[in-house]
Amino acid sequence: MVATTTTTGEGWSSRTAFILAAVGAAVGLGNIWRFPTLAGESGGGAFVIVYIACVFLLGLPLVLAEIFIGKVGQSDAVGSIRRVAAKSNASSSWSLFGLVGVMAAFPILSFYSVVAGWVLYYSGVLGADFFQAIMSGDPFRGALAGESREAIQGRMGNLFADPGLLLTMHFLFMGATLFIVARGVHAGIEKAATYLMPAFFVLLIGLVIYGMIEGDVAQAMAFLFTPDFSKLTPQVINTALGQALFSLSLGVAGLITYGSYIKESSGLGATSAMIAIADTGVALLAGLMIFPIVFAVGLDPAAGPTLVFQTLPFAFQTMPGGALIGFLFFVLILVAAVTSSISLLEVPTAWGIGERGWSRPKSALIFGGAAFLVGILCLLGYNVWSDVRPLGFWPLFADTDILDTIDGFTGKVMLPLVAMLTSIFVGWKADRTLLATETGLSPAVLKIWRFLIAWVCPLAVGAILVTGLFPSLLD
Ligand code: TRP
Repeated sequence: MVATTTTTGEGWSSRTAFILAAVGAAVGLGNIWRFPTLAGESGGGAFVIVYIACVFLLGLPLVLAEIFIGKVGQSDAVGSIRRVAAKSNASSSWSLFGLVGVMAAFPILSFYSVVAGWVLYYSGVLGADFFQAIMSGDPFRGALAGESREAIQGRMGNLFADPGLLLTMHFLFMGATLFIVARGVHAGIEKAATYLMPAFFVLLIGLVIYGMIEGDVAQAMAFLFTPDFSKLTPQVINTALGQALFSLSLGVAGLITYGSYIKESSGLGATSAMIAIADTGVALLAGLMIFPIVFAVGLDPAAGPTLVFQTLPFAFQTMPGGALIGFLFFVLILVAAVTSSISLLEVPTAWGIGERGWSRPKSALIFGGAAFLVGILCLLGYNVWSDVRPLGFWPLFADTDILDTIDGFTGKVMLPLVAMLTSIFVGWKADRTLLATETGLSPAVLKIWRFLIAWVCPLAVGAILVTGLFPSLLD
């Protein structure tokens, strides 16, 4: 098959490279920080089941739909949709949903980098602590030896109260993201993914084994997998879908953009399945890494967003080898976060290159710089502007700070909206022969996919979008 050139002229060097980059985009803070948090808050097993159903019934068809558009379009998100529309005799206005996606990627990147900055800070703290442990001749001691529980948990509050420190971490993380994206698809994104993802999996497996040996696995399994269906409120279902979209990097045209760098189509269906399975597997493994430790130390699994930052560092203090394990744990999250943030920056960067004709470094700098500035608003929302409620007039966001507002608005409104439009476009507008030839699905699987993408996705995502925005409808 002849390789078509993309607008940007770039491409993955192999199918493996694409899969690693796409799995890298999918696996991130969403899997390791948010998924265990949500499972903990929403009562465990019942949430996990709904989540898995969302991933495979709605998420996986959408992953394939986005990759399909990118593969056929060979351009940035907007240009790719336009090309698929042209080949399908559909209106080019469909490309507008790509633009909404591009516009969503950028605020997500802003707050993502701020949260990744916290991870960077904790990597630094525990790295320094591990270094001290080595120097003191006791490398296998617990983390932060001698520090009281209050002091350890107080570190998060101190970090949040310090705009300068938050800003420094945010700056470093965004800088690293920008550097990688500016280097290009091949020399930057692909290279980062091919080094970092294998390292990530080794660390993850290592930490899960550690949890099995030192932690309380039985209780963790019971917690993660025993369903309590009384906990299944419409809000929980809503949250599960939002999390599935976020975790699979759907709804910002991210996989359209990554898909556009595929040169030869072979088994897009199998590739999509691998991405969904890897992403879900990592989320579950993250749960199996975190909860055995939480239970072993008798801590609260429903601590919420502070679980990783307050609960675990204290747990690492009491665990054998905790100084080393704690350090590795935060490095693991950091690695996952970088390979995701580069995908978020790549979406608008490719748009700038394809639609505006900017050079890659210029485009990356413009969007990375702008996202950095918006991130500053987010981090000031933890201290100087802690009273600010940007969408305070809207009951849904009445008591939501700047970062959570951007997170909530993108996650509850923009991602589902773009996901719904993607499924309508691919399910109803895209040329059927094109669907068959470009995805390479067998006739039976093609039929199932077309049913899911044309009917199930628009209706389910639409229903969840509406009830998410107007929760009172369900009362
Ligand atoms: N999926 C990543 C995570 O779970 C975050 C992410 C990367 C993302 N690209 C995205 C989320 C695009 C939404 C849209 O951490």
